Amino acid sequence: MDGTRMFQLEGKTAIVTGASRGIGEAIAKGFAQAGADLVLVSRNMAALERLAQEISGFGRKALPLAADIGDPEAIQKVIDRTLEVFLRIDILVNNAGISPVLKKAEEMTLKEWEEIVRVNLTGTFLFSQAAGRVMIRQGAGKIINMVSVGAVVGFQRQIAYCATKGGILQMTRVLALEWARHNIQVNAIGPSYLETELTKGMRESKVISENLLRRTPMARFGKPEEVVGAALYLASDASSYVTGQTLFVDGGWLAY
Ligand SMILES: NC(=O)c1ccc[n+]([C@@H]2O[C@H](COP(=O)([O-])OP(=O)(O)OC[C@H]3O[C@@H](n4cnc5c(N)ncnc54)[C@H](OP(=O)(O)O)[C@@H]3O)[C@@H](O)[C@H]2O)c1
Repeated sequence: MDGTRMFQLEGKTAIVTGASRGIGEAIAKGFAQAGADLVLVSRNMAALERLAQEISGFGRKALPLAADIGDPEAIQKVIDRTLEVFLRIDILVNNAGISPVLKKAEEMTLKEWEEIVRVNLTGTFLFSQAAGRVMIRQGAGKIINMVSVGAVVGFQRQIAYCATKGGILQMTRVLALEWARHNIQVNAIGPSYLETELTKGMRESKVISENLLRRTPMARFGKPEEVVGAALYLASDASSYVTGQTLFVDGGWLAY
């Protein structure tokens, strides 16, 4: 394998969910700069169109598609449209995710629980299943699931979020085993706390923010761009013998 080219994504088509901002937007731009064509998914078409415009400036094609990732029909439409335009799906990044409430377990409502499970866990499963069927036919593919350090350690007041991220980590292992023989590698990335919309509330609280930074060996929040290298590794030939793993991008959080 050529060391100068193993991270290249030229000729590849990648679907990135949650591409309208934050980590998904950073990964989509990084993949385009590495040569991939992109399918950009979220519910916010205007934001996706802006990003598609920017990506076309890198000389790559980008197809913005509005979809709710908890909706099986919407997912199938994304898959069908991707195949119409690009004929194949090489990479799927299941990045879209939510953490809308910070609540004690005894106060969480069933509605709040079900929405977090629907988007994070069911959405990741349904998207993997729909893209996986295509990748099995192709005899190749890469799936990257966005988990969190909260997949392996508990975060107080985030019971549904941690349960879904732990569930996605396990889903990553099962899919890696089932699809290894089809040459599909399924891995995950586990960030700690990054500067995105998702963590804005926590970072703006002095008490929470100081606690988080005290707990982070590198003593700063990460930036979405700092996840791109891990995603490129797991999307490219550089990781051709790696499957079922979770790569933590956490400023040292899990080294304790
Ligand atoms: N930021 C962190 O510190 C951190 C740490 C660990 C893990 N993560 C994980 O990283 C991923 C991205 O997080 P982020 O920080 O970039 O969050 P963010 O800035 O809040 O972005 C979330 C993305 O998910 C999309 N999304 C949410 N619900 C959706 C739905 N039902 N259907 C389609 N798209 C949906 C949003 O798009 P629209 O609103 O436009 O639909 C947006 O593009 C998440 O899975 C998160 O759990 C983040």
